[in-house]
Order: sequence, then C-alpha cells, then structure tokens
Amino acid sequence: MDQIRIRGGRPLEGSIRISGAKNAALPLMTASLLTDETLTLTNLPFLADITTLVQLLMQHGVQIGMRDSGAGHVLEMTAKEITSTTAPYDLVRKMRASILVLGPLVARCGEARVSLPGGCAIGTRPVDLHLKGLEALGAEIELANGYVHARAPKGLAGGHYVFPFVSVGATENLVMAASLAKGESTLVNAAREPEVADLAKCLVGMGAKIEGIGTDTLTIQGVPALHATEHRVVADRIETGTFAMAAAATGGELELVGAELSIIDSVAEALDKAGVEIVETENGLKVRRRNGLVGVDVMTEPYPGFPTDMQAQMMALMSIAEGASMITETIFENRFMHVPELARMGANINVHQSSAMVRGTKKLTGAPVMATDLRASVSLVIAGLAAEGETVINRVYHIDRGYERIEEKLKACGADIERVGS
Ligand code: EPZ
Repeated sequence: MDQIRIRGGRPLEGSIRISGAKNAALPLMTASLLTDETLTLTNLPFLADITTLVQLLMQHGVQIGMRDSGAGHVLEMTAKEITSTTAPYDLVRKMRASILVLGPLVARCGEARVSLPGGCAIGTRPVDLHLKGLEALGAEIELANGYVHARAPKGLAGGHYVFPFVSVGATENLVMAASLAKGESTLVNAAREPEVADLAKCLVGMGAKIEGIGTDTLTIQGVPALHATEHRVVADRIETGTFAMAAAATGGELELVGAELSIIDSVAEALDKAGVEIVETENGLKVRRRNGLVGVDVMTEPYPGFPTDMQAQMMALMSIAEGASMITETIFENRFMHVPELARMGANINVHQSSAMVRGTKKLTGAPVMATDLRASVSLVIAGLAAEGETVINRVYHIDRGYERIEEKLKACGADIERVGS
C-alpha cells in the first residue's frame, strides 16, 4: 500500500497548475449518455475516480478515447448505442458518484438499474432526493436487492421539484434527466456549486434549454435529443483552496495557475481574515502569508458558503494559527476523522458534536498517520508540510482519487516529499 513521506518545515515557492475539477468532470462524463453523438471534454484531471467512471461508462456501451494534451486530458465519449442500462455493484461501490448515470439512463433509455452506492467514511450519504426528484419527472422507482430500478416507459415528463435541502448530486441527476423530459421542469432550492453550473453550461452546449444557471432555481425545457459539443472542465476550486492553504501553512508563496478567484470567494474571505493574502495575477492567483496566522471561525455550507470539501484543510491550517478557531461541519455527519490524526501531530482540537474547537499551537511535529477519506488525507499533507520532522501518511490511495500527482506538484515547489511503495 503506497505511502507518502514528508519532511516538513520548508516554505513552498513556485507555481502549480490547477487541474480541471474532479467534481465537475464526473457529472460531465455521465452527460455523454444523453446523446448518441460525441461529447468531448478538455482540461480533464487524470484521477482514479475518472478511470473508475470510464470503466462504468464503457460497460454501458460508451466508446471512449482519451489523450494527454499536456495541459489536462482530452476525453471523447460516444454513446451511439447504450448496450446495458445496469450499473453493477462492483463498480458503483468503488465510486459513489456512479449514481449520476441514473438520470441520464432513464432519460435516454426509459429505464435504468443502478446499484445503490454504499455510504462512505464521511457519512451514510443516501440518494433519496435523487429518487424523489426522478419520481417528480414521472419515473417509477423500485428498490430491490441493493439496486434502484427506475422506469419511464413513455419517457420522462417535465415536473416541479423542491429540494428539501441542497444536494449537489441530486441537482445534477435531475438537470440531466429533465434535459430530455417532455415539457418544462422547475428545480427549486437547487445546488449552486460551480460544478453544477459547469454541467448546465455543457448541457446547453449540447442543445439543452436551461434557465437560471448559477441560481437556486433551474427551469429546463426538455428537448427530443442532445448533440455533440466540446467543453472545458472548470478549474478545481477545492484543489485551489488546498494548495493556497499549503502555501500559507508553510509560510511560502505559490502561484496557482488557472485558478479562478470568483469561485473560491468564501475560502478567500476566511483566509484573508486568517492573515493570508490572495491576489489575482494574469495567470491565476498568487498566495502568501502576510505575517502570522490568526485563528478564524468557519462553518461549512452549500455554495456560496464555505465548502465542506475545504473543512479538513482549514483545520490543518488553523492548528498552527495564533488563537482559537471554531470549525463547524453542517453538511456531513462524520467528517472529523482527520482530527485524531492531526492530534497525533500535536494539534490541539476538541470536538463537540458538529463543531471542533482548534487551539493553535506554535508547531506540529511529524508522525505516522492514516488517511481516512480524500479531503482528510490532504489535510495531513498540509500538516506534514508545516510540521517539524518526518510524517508518513498511510493509505494514500484516498488522495489519488482527487489530486493529480500531488507529490510531484509539491516537490516542484520545494517540498521534501516522496511516494514510497510499502
Ligand atoms: C458532492 O457530493 C461532492 N461529490 C462532494 O465531494 C461534496 O462534499 C458534496 O457534493 C457537498 O458539496 C461530487 O461532486 C462527486 P450532496 P454529493 O448530495 O452530491 C445528503 C469530495 O471530497 N443527501 O450535496 O453526494 C448527504 O448525505 C466529495 O470531492 C441526502 O440525504 O453531496 C449530505 O449529508 C466528498 N439525500 C448532504 O445531503 C440525498 O439524496 C449533501 O450531499 C442526497 C444527499
């Protein structure tokens, strides 16, 4: 099992190219099922989750071509014919975002049989909103033997659905399904994440009729068919925030090439209060600490609030700030698994239900630690880069799911970091 070894205490200096967003790429890839023409995605990150979804799409009958353009990967997908409408357990359990084939398959083929994604380390992660929303579009839903069986023999019909709370994935599934439904659909309290907007823009490029992109109310006029398009995956705002925090934690200065300030507002605001300067350059963003770090309170919320996917990284940074920081997680029920690992490195963190009180310490010390989920793992990388001494992170396959060649990007900026097979 691969490990990452870091000898901390070296300021990061240099520039890092920000990849296309994993959480945009995955739904964009499932949109290929909506048309029999070719969907081409550029600026695609090369990640384990992408490879898993490629396997799943191929078993549905999607023809895939992928090449490295030198600035992100180019992926060509053609679902001329859907040869299977079943998404099997052995693939779905590897990557729960596979549930995003459900809406497109029902919309294109009139039926789908998709394994229920298990929960994961950060929570039970049910898909009830996905299913209720599809029912609002006329699908008949049946759960049996661990599978969702959705049917719409006469095709989906436009409907009205109000999300009881914000769900990124459910919004994405329903926008795709509604694009081919007969008539008008309105989705209220829809997710506004930039990755949702990126998907909607791609669907419009394929001929979908969607109003309200970027807002919490989406109106979709269904069309009989969608067509080919080429779409550039939006920059990864979570990768941007992660490397910004790594620069701040090590007292260095990084240029994040291709990063967009407009989609990390809430993170930039929190970092500004914490003493981190982020300025726009012609290539992206430049990040450095002004002086010392100061503890600030953050609460995770749906976009445009502070992203839950940045919570663990912020906690690592706040562990070495002056003063206290209250970090409250409101999206997932179990997203503090990085706390005991950070504590092994000397962090002073007290968890009480969904809040963690972080009292900054002068320094962290390196230790062997365990990665538990994607974002928790990368918070340990940030802590290791800032800590005195050596940190060895186990189970780094978690990191590879969301960060492309992270050790190479960091090594190129002066980090003493290496991947070691064990
Ligand atoms: C997406 O997950 C992201 N994944 C997550 O990123 C991200 O943390 C999350 O949105 C929130 O921003 C991808 O885009 C592939 P949700 P998703 O539906 O769509 C509950 C990462 O690290 N819920 O917005 O699954 C759910 O349990 C990953 O890159 C229901 O109860 O998130 C959670 O508590 C982790 N029923 C909350 O809503 C449902 O039907 C938000 O989930 C759907 C969700």
